Amino acid sequence: MNAAEYHGRLNPCAFVRTYGCQQNVADSEKIKGILLNMGYNLTNDESTADLILFNTCAVREHAEDRVFGNVGALKSRKKKNPKLIVAVCGCMPEEKHVVERLKKTFPFVDLVFGTRSFSHLESLLKRLYLEKRRVFEYGVEEKVVAEGLPIHRDGDLKAYLSIMYGCDNFCSYCIVPYTRGRERSRKYADVIKEAHSIVEGGYKEITLLGQNVNSYGKGLHEGISFPKLLNDIANINGDFWVRFMTSHPKDATRELIDFMAKNDKICNHIHLPFQSGSNRILSRMNRKYTREDYVEIVRYARCKIPNVSITSDIIVGFPGETYEDFCETLSLVKEIGFTALFTFIYSRRTGTKAASFPDPVPYSEKNKWFQQLLEVQKEKTSEYCESVQGEIMRVLVEKSADANGHLTARNEGNVVVDVEGDKDLIGKFVNVRIVGYKNWVLKGEVIN
Ligand code: 5AD
Ligand code: SF4
Repeated sequence: MNAAEYHGRLNPCAFVRTYGCQQNVADSEKIKGILLNMGYNLTNDESTADLILFNTCAVREHAEDRVFGNVGALKSRKKKNPKLIVAVCGCMPEEKHVVERLKKTFPFVDLVFGTRSFSHLESLLKRLYLEKRRVFEYGVEEKVVAEGLPIHRDGDLKAYLSIMYGCDNFCSYCIVPYTRGRERSRKYADVIKEAHSIVEGGYKEITLLGQNVNSYGKGLHEGISFPKLLNDIANINGDFWVRFMTSHPKDATRELIDFMAKNDKICNHIHLPFQSGSNRILSRMNRKYTREDYVEIVRYARCKIPNVSITSDIIVGFPGETYEDFCETLSLVKEIGFTALFTFIYSRRTGTKAASFPDPVPYSEKNKWFQQLLEVQKEKTSEYCESVQGEIMRVLVEKSADANGHLTARNEGNVVVDVEGDKDLIGKFVNVRIVGYKNWVLKGEVIN
């Protein structure tokens, strides 16, 4: 039985909602590719869909609560239309307690599969069509990355390119090593082939993705390091940019910075999550670097690439963190001067090491620290915006911002630049002079 026969419609519609990180966005692009191949049309309208799929994130409790809320809201629709397929996939189904809850409390969820099963989506759906009972698949071990899956990219300007999956770092707060499994890299030839097809497709920006891109190649025995892969991709003929995320500070090498400095097509941007400025907390987080190591790699990057943009992730209120520890995070934020920060209040994840650590500080107190951090970063962002006034920089124009001729662009540092100009500029690189800013958005004038 195929999709049309099951749903009783020639072109049944599929709605895919993605939660969480870029890796999930990239996985969803493959899921969409598979669904299109199976005869589904993609729709942005959940209310008319024949198949609703949520690709989920488990990194914080808040994201999980949203998924449960949105899945719960489908109960009455499923009652009205028993042929509607409700699917939940991604990181949450890799957690035992989530699977149990889906099994017991959400009987109208038909299909549940984990992060290493999306390449099996077609056969899982076919099983569902035939057997007409709930299908669950999770905890699958993937030793070699599945290749050759169709991809339906969300945009036509910027492309994600996954180079590796999983994580072996086991930071004590993080669920990812449990939900995404052991690190595995795609073969060099497969990555390069996909990069060529992206460039040939006219994309202007490629973002290389991995939980820790600096570990690329481990276990492959191909002798290709991440900096070499990055450089080889940037050297493909064509006018495009390459960026990457995420880099673990313990593995960010001078070699990586040197390649970035030498190759103009590699964006002068490094997302380098430091999580905490306190060495005591970094050690309890199992991060395997010190504040001093972090400052040193940033110093080297700034020395080799003076205009490098550094962004970071921070966790506030890790179990056992004191106000003094938090103040060390604040002081590192002041010392480094990040162009942007992604800040999170610690969320307890069942199964991780930190879940068993005493956590005496109340949430309301952590929230006060968090607000303090946002204030400091606001000042730092303004300082950055002030420092680039009058500069000429290359930006990639992404889309219209409004009906009055404002366009949204981004610079190499991934900072948003508002540009006035014709819609023809969308999809192009242009040089702009920075002539102002508002909040975290720079204002640029096109120069010829
Ligand atoms: N609580 C809060 N933030 C977390 N992150 C990862 N796990 C947790 C957690 N349990 C944050 C880290 C990571 C980013 C992707 O999410 O800062 O770098
Ligand atoms: Fe989580 Fe640490 Fe792996 Fe990042 S490096 S995914 S924070 S365990």
